[in-house]
Amino acid sequence: MFDRRSAKGGSNLASEKLKRMLNEAIAREIQVSVQYMWQHVQWAGVDHFAASDKFKEIAVEEMKHAERIAERLWYFGGVPTTKPAPIKVGGELWEMVDNDIEAELEAIDMYKKIQKLAHAEDDPTTRLIFMEILEDEEDHHDFFISLKEGKKK
Ligand SMILES: [Fe+2]
Ligand SMILES: [Fe+2]
Repeated sequence: MFDRRSAKGGSNLASEKLKRMLNEAIAREIQVSVQYMWQHVQWAGVDHFAASDKFKEIAVEEMKHAERIAERLWYFGGVPTTKPAPIKVGGELWEMVDNDIEAELEAIDMYKKIQKLAHAEDDPTTRLIFMEILEDEEDHHDFFISLKEGKKK
């Protein structure tokens, strides 16, 4: 069977650094996908039904991000990780939202760095993928911030 990981040329499509960052991004996407889905389950029992549905919707989006990044890494001859970054569900509801705001800010920061590196490596496709994912992460960040602001009113 043809193995693109050992094929000459395939390994030169992206730097080791970029591939490592893509794997870190995958670990984060799996983390937040599980984190938000379990929070969705916990929120469902409380009187925040609209918010609970949104947690589920975002959890699914994060898993789609993981898939998209994994496909890109596989194309580069890398092996996508199956291990999530540390999952922080949180106990009390507002503690959960704080964890989520933090996770989204970390993603925004990391994906800007990946865009910069992809640009430096003359890789517009990876850059475009992360521009599109970044837009989603900013929407998520906005949702969690709005949820917290709503609490204060
Ligand atoms: Fe994501
Ligand atoms: Fe997100």
